[in-house]
Amino acid sequence: MTEFEMIAKTFQGLEEILAKELIDLGANGVAIGNRMVSFKGDKALMYKANFHLRTAIRILKPFLHFKADSADDVYEICRKVDWERYMDLSDSFAVDSVVYSEDFRHSKFVAYRVKDAIADYFRDKYGKRPNVSVANPDLTFHIHISHDDCSLSLDSSGESLHKRGYRQEAMEAPLNEVLAAGMILMSGWDGKSDFVDPMCGSGTIPIEAALIAKNMAPGLFRSSFAFEKWKDFDRDLFEEIYNDDSQERDFEFTIRGYDKDPKAILTAKRNAKAAGLLDTIQFEQRDFKDFEPVKQRTVIITNPPYGERLVEDNLLGLYEMIGERLKHALIGGEAWIISYHYECFDKIGLKPSAKIPLFNGALPCELRKYEIFDGRYNDFRGGDRRLKKDDLPTRRSSTLRHKARLAEKQEAKEADKPFRNADERKPFRKADDHKPFRKAEGGKSFHKSDGKKPLRKNKSGAKPFRKSEGGAKPFRKTDKKPFRNNRK
Ligand SMILES: C[S@@+](CC[C@H](N)C(=O)[O-])C[C@H]1O[C@@H](n2cnc3c(N)ncnc32)[C@H](O)[C@@H]1O
Repeated sequence: MTEFEMIAKTFQGLEEILAKELIDLGANGVAIGNRMVSFKGDKALMYKANFHLRTAIRILKPFLHFKADSADDVYEICRKVDWERYMDLSDSFAVDSVVYSEDFRHSKFVAYRVKDAIADYFRDKYGKRPNVSVANPDLTFHIHISHDDCSLSLDSSGESLHKRGYRQEAMEAPLNEVLAAGMILMSGWDGKSDFVDPMCGSGTIPIEAALIAKNMAPGLFRSSFAFEKWKDFDRDLFEEIYNDDSQERDFEFTIRGYDKDPKAILTAKRNAKAAGLLDTIQFEQRDFKDFEPVKQRTVIITNPPYGERLVEDNLLGLYEMIGERLKHALIGGEAWIISYHYECFDKIGLKPSAKIPLFNGALPCELRKYEIFDGRYNDFRGGDRRLKKDDLPTRRSSTLRHKARLAEKQEAKEADKPFRNADERKPFRKADDHKPFRKAEGGKSFHKSDGKKPLRKNKSGAKPFRKSEGGAKPFRKTDKKPFRNNRK
């Protein structure tokens, strides 16, 4: 099959882990950009990317690169595109735009001009124009402009890929599924030990952990992908990818999700049931202060509350308790905690061995790793086992926000050279010489340095999906119809 260029979009901070996922999936020419990874592959890879990637939010297929320095130029060039290669008059469409350019002040205006060009193309030919649909278009085009470099792409995903399809309900502030999966993959947890999220809310982290542990595709529960409406959709090919469960594996350890709020536990159970994972995850209403010492090696990944009001919500007291429990109940294990305020991290009172900047939505956060050693406490700072003031600079949250704003400004300036120069970009390291992604402060890597590849190793334990759980049945194989209905 012919290879073509693709772009996987993601959140800031997840680019390297996404690049690794792509390499594992068989992508060529993988190159990291800003909140995106470009790569090459054939149609099968495009379907697989949508179906298997845990840290991508959408997959774009660029089909035209050109230079323009005004919205009118963009219109003139788009007017000459043979739009019928991609859509019919009866299809509805939408146009998204991302613009980093002084020449194009209003990204929406560029999108309007592309829409005009598509509408005029059809009107000239048939006397009618296709419908624009914002909510549920058959096709979505993207125009990306960096200075005068313009790229037109087709969106192969449709709804953001974080919408896995298992979420029935959400509690307040659920973690984005892509971010949750990214945190787990960054930790290197590969299902070879116990796993706990002691403040699991609607269960996103334990559910993503279970999908990773069993190597189940995150796209299993989606009702559709945008490429299913494309003119060249190869139903047999996608059906083959969709029904291939040969890489799934058994999971022999325990995943637990706790929350002190009984409603959260009910919601988490509903979501896990919809993912067919109710038997894989043990959910229980429990306050973290009652977290009992683990009996075997356990990895904790969690996002505790981190609202704006440090004092009123007694957030500092909560983080102090978290530190105390980790120290006494997680001996020999490790904890990964995402939070927003430095003051909260300081209250944990343990020395982090890694600090990774990540965005949770618009909030500039950090994911910190804590390794809890057996008894010797060398890594707990100071006589009272609390962090000494000069070990880590005591920065204020406002500093963190300020840094993030500066980074965003810088980013906008750099105008992330998007699609066309993918080949010129620094190629991503090959999977086999894969090194820890980023150095933590203090020179320690946050990623395990044994270079272990977490996924797709355990072929032997592959088990048909449908046998797994008592939860809602996924589409695959359980239905009479082996495959979901596609368009129209
Ligand atoms: C930010 S939310 C977690 C969201 C979750 N990751 C999700 O995707 O839905 C924080 C959760 O911590 C829980 N929580 C707060 N204090 C707790 C405690 N002491 N013990 C256990 N859970 C607690 C809250 O009930 C809330 O559900």
